[in-house]
Amino acid sequence: MSATGNNASQLALDGVGKRYHLKGNDIVALHGINLRFAPGEFVSIVGGSGCGKSTLLRIIGGLERDFDGSVRLNGSPIAGPGLDRGLLFQDHRLLPWLTVWENIAFALAESRSAAARRVIAEHIALVGLKGFEKAYPHQLSGGMAQRASIARALVNRPQILLLDEPFGALDALTRIQLQKEILRIWQAERTTMVLVTHDIDEAIFLGDRVVVMSNRPGTIKKEVRIELARPRPRNSPSFADFRQTVYREFFTETELAPDYMV
Ligand SMILES: Nc1ncnc2c1ncn2[C@@H]1O[C@H](COP(=O)(O)OP(=O)(O)O)[C@@H](O)[C@H]1O
Ligand SMILES: [Mg+2]
Repeated sequence: MSATGNNASQLALDGVGKRYHLKGNDIVALHGINLRFAPGEFVSIVGGSGCGKSTLLRIIGGLERDFDGSVRLNGSPIAGPGLDRGLLFQDHRLLPWLTVWENIAFALAESRSAAARRVIAEHIALVGLKGFEKAYPHQLSGGMAQRASIARALVNRPQILLLDEPFGALDALTRIQLQKEILRIWQAERTTMVLVTHDIDEAIFLGDRVVVMSNRPGTIKKEVRIELARPRPRNSPSFADFRQTVYREFFTETELAPDYMV
């Protein structure tokens, strides 16, 4: 594909569908997903439990080979996992017998050269873990462990970071703190971010766009461009307008009435 062609999309999904076969039953997890992601864009994807969010990220990540439609990265079909895509999950998935430094080093093909050591140190600093290089995962708080896994996911400088409810297991205050951190990191690194979340405020706080998915089968219901300057105060009237726009895709007007939404 030429650099000028196809809207300069870095990642393009066309007609993506996925069926699971479970005890003779067909579950249509995803159907007819068309999405474009521009380089450096931050896209949030929201939807209820079981709507296919993780399946979608697994397909983009190359972890799921058996699907319909096409997924192209810079014009080429994805053929499996690759260092061009980093993954972050709800659980940190650090190796418990390795330190913070070693966990991050483990993601690199070569981690002993001066250049590699510099890159590891830069990423530890980027996520605010300077001084914790020698700590083991059990010595870290949930938020710190997630910071370490962000560093590990970014250390190979992927073009795209795929985030599957990365802050879902954290307490509310830590979650807000890490949302601010991921925003700062994105602004510093300009990695394309694809964030899956069921937290609508998180989706609006972070995304250039919020993609709303429907359930069974998972389809794209709506895309909302978040035309708000960052940082975005969650108590501002314009934030509330976007929240209401997204809520409307999930709740009836009666459910959204002020006396109903206590
Ligand atoms: N390995 C699997 N085998 C059978 N069904 C699956 C499998 N993984 C997911 N599903 C089903 O596909 C649908 C989408 O799952 P998932 O992508 O995990 O949704 P979400 O991440 O939005 O909660 C759900 O109905 C789920 O039960
Ligand atoms: Mg999921």
